[in-house]
Amino acid sequence: MGTKIIGTGSCLPETIVTNDDLAKIMDTSDEWISTRTGIKERHLAKDETTAGMSAAAARKAMENAGVTAQDIDLIIVGTVTADHITPSCACEVQAAIGADNAVAFDINAACSGFMFALNIAHAYLQTGACKTALIIGAETLSKIMDWDDRSTCVLFGDGAGAAVLQKSDRGGLLAFDQGSDGAKGSVLSCADRTNNNPLVKTPRELGYVHMDGQEVYRFAVTTVPQSLTRTIEAAGLSVQDIDYFALHQANIRILQAVAKRLKVSEERLPVSLDHCGNISAASVPILLDEMNRKGLLKPGMKVAMSGFGGGLTWASAVLEW
Ligand code: ACO
Repeated sequence: MGTKIIGTGSCLPETIVTNDDLAKIMDTSDEWISTRTGIKERHLAKDETTAGMSAAAARKAMENAGVTAQDIDLIIVGTVTADHITPSCACEVQAAIGADNAVAFDINAACSGFMFALNIAHAYLQTGACKTALIIGAETLSKIMDWDDRSTCVLFGDGAGAAVLQKSDRGGLLAFDQGSDGAKGSVLSCADRTNNNPLVKTPRELGYVHMDGQEVYRFAVTTVPQSLTRTIEAAGLSVQDIDYFALHQANIRILQAVAKRLKVSEERLPVSLDHCGNISAASVPILLDEMNRKGLLKPGMKVAMSGFGGGLTWASAVLEW
């Protein structure tokens, strides 16, 4: 028994900010950003919220899957930028779409969040604890960027992607690999607000994303090919059997290095970071939705997916579409 993705959806904020737009407000250039990252533009939220974009992506995924909100009995949102500490983004989505029968919760695995949600939902489906799961990766990263730090703020964007999952007789999720390395957490971090109780009385400071870009690059180009290779082998396949690699969209150089290490042509690694930037947990489901809506994904095709990022965390899956 497998777990199948039966529908996808996504939502990006209305406002597009190009590299040239950023160059008007900080000391950067289209040349610097696009040659080092492949990013040309990103969508940034003005009125949009993490839960609002999640609900919009969820509605599209449910329509694509042919299910109603009443059918959904599990909602998991991977996010590090929920609108509230409580209620969770997943509970807000539940209320917005009217999924009264669902249990809903968020998980924090940064850029691997959607992939972690996929594996958790797979476990719920396979044990019979739920029948139709809605999983979402959603971020409003622009609110946790230090807009005075040009080395990080130009890399990220906002948006949400969703998928509806059900148990299937054949195909679906063939293998999964998941890992964490908390000892390297400081490589990519964002502090929460500092304590301000009557005993401590420290000034309340807000955390912003801090990244050691070169360490992240080293981590990604080593761990992702290893994790993908393990997963593909566990699925009983070879790298050449995989039609597409739908990978977290951090940086074009990471995608090129992974393609080289796996010895596959770059055409098999679709790209959305050129127009979306890096949207952490939302990157993989938005890419998958774009591939689905372009008609790239045909029944029986093999798709390898991988998320990697803060924690550090990583997760890969091989699916038969
Ligand atoms: N515009 C112009 N100049 C800049 C900018 C900018 N936006 N940002 C930094 N610079 C300057 C720096 O000040 C520095 O100048 P200096 O040499 O005079 O001091 C110079 O460019 C080089 O800075 P580095 O930070 O060393 O830049 P690097 O060449 O390492 O490139 C990058 C940075 C693209 C992030 C690179 O480290 C990388 O590819 N990292 C991969 C990881 C990644 O993409 N992470 C994103 C998110 S993490 C994730 O999703 C898992």
